Amino acid sequence: MNVVILAAGMGKRMQSALPKVLHPLAGKPLLAHVVDTAKTLTPTTLCVVYGHGGDAVPSSFADSQLSFAKQEPQLGTGHAVAQALPHLDDSVPTLILYGDVPLTTAATLRRLLDSAGQDKLGVLTITLDNPSGYGRIVREHGKITRIVEQKDASDAERAIQEINTGIIVAPTAKLRSWLAALSNDNAQGEYYLTDVIASAVADGVEVVSAQPDDVAETLGVNSKVQLAELERTYQRGVAHALLEQGVTLLDPARLDVRGTLHCGRDVSIDVNCIFEGKVEIADGAVIGANCIIRNARIGAGAQIKPFSHIDDAVVGAAAQVGPYARLRPGAELGEEVHIGNFVEVKKSRIAARSKANHLAYIGDATIGSGVNIGAGVITCNYDGVNKFETIIEDDVFVGSDTQLIAPVRVGKGATIGAGTTLTKDAPAGQLTLSRAKQMSLAGWVRPVKIKK
Ligand code: UD1
Ligand code: CA
Repeated sequence: MNVVILAAGMGKRMQSALPKVLHPLAGKPLLAHVVDTAKTLTPTTLCVVYGHGGDAVPSSFADSQLSFAKQEPQLGTGHAVAQALPHLDDSVPTLILYGDVPLTTAATLRRLLDSAGQDKLGVLTITLDNPSGYGRIVREHGKITRIVEQKDASDAERAIQEINTGIIVAPTAKLRSWLAALSNDNAQGEYYLTDVIASAVADGVEVVSAQPDDVAETLGVNSKVQLAELERTYQRGVAHALLEQGVTLLDPARLDVRGTLHCGRDVSIDVNCIFEGKVEIADGAVIGANCIIRNARIGAGAQIKPFSHIDDAVVGAAAQVGPYARLRPGAELGEEVHIGNFVEVKKSRIAARSKANHLAYIGDATIGSGVNIGAGVITCNYDGVNKFETIIEDDVFVGSDTQLIAPVRVGKGATIGAGTTLTKDAPAGQLTLSRAKQMSLAGWVRPVKIKK
């Protein structure tokens, strides 16, 4: 099928310079949710009708599968679809979606497409307790005959509770002729897409309907209030699915997933965690409260303690991270590695059972297994212009407050004395230290305040 996504509306109530469809829901623009759902239907063509906000909409989607049609000025939903017509293939039906309705599921759309087949017109409808504002579905003897907009409706029509969600599928060649015949002689002076329903009936084309599984699938975003409400609806759905899979969420209302989160068995997640991008958490891992984890793999049985920040990193099985740890891009921790409070790790591999428990910076380093990094140790990886590597072999003990001036290597089993500034490689198996000799001055007196 062809898919047309209407996204030209101006979204005035968002009170924002950003076009409405680019506002994020779960970390992704509203329009991207609709595009991604549409792609799962493998459309022949996928065309976005944009307008308000200049080229911000097309330029934020670098995607060769998408085509864009500009609608300027915006004269109604029918006029909007007409702008996409040059992009459409007449041999397949056209599905019309809204760029500001992000939660429609592929399953619902498939049901609508199946009921319409190749030559019927299908409308996604729903029955609401309060249908106010929506176009009403007018039926005669059970068959849809037309849609009447709220502003054009009689009192009797306004009493109809079945509404047009706006999502429609139509045979494309017919759609062309119906759109060409639209008039704007109505209460809003707009070219209504909804008028094609009456044209279809007049043309002897059968009009069918399908219904979504959930009302949230049809909700649009017109304001920040509605955006916030849909965000919570989305997050509740994610949390519910995780619980169904057996994940323990200490409070499903205090979880935010802005991307994809895959969890193994017996994973537990405490409150206020944010997951972004693609995150995988293996069996038995425990995530403490207030962690932010983005594009990461957390190994089986690992413990991520509260307030840790993990970005583009890998945590090995049974490792312990935090509280207050920061793993930056390229941090790779082996099995049973311990990274403690206020330790920052960047672009470094740390092999099994090594520990850096307190206040350290490890950047551009390769650290073997069984290494102990003392409190306050720093890899000085940057000279202000270039970055250099530090290599620490297996079973090394690095005393507290050591600065490793990269490039530098510490041989297997070496011990570095506390407070060392290591500027040359340290040989394996030996104690290396750089330290000013300690002295004490007998009879020394403290200065006293000078009176002025
Ligand atoms: C439309 C339907 C109404 C339906 C409702 C569901 C029409 C005439 N009415 O009404 O039956 O119940 O949606 O929410 O179709 N848009 C453009 N260009 C335009 C006008 C709109 O791209 O010139 C886009 C908007 O960005 C939005 C969508 O079309 O994504 C719907 O527009 P909106 O103004 O919200 O339509 P409604 O008047 O609410
Ligand atoms: Ca609307």
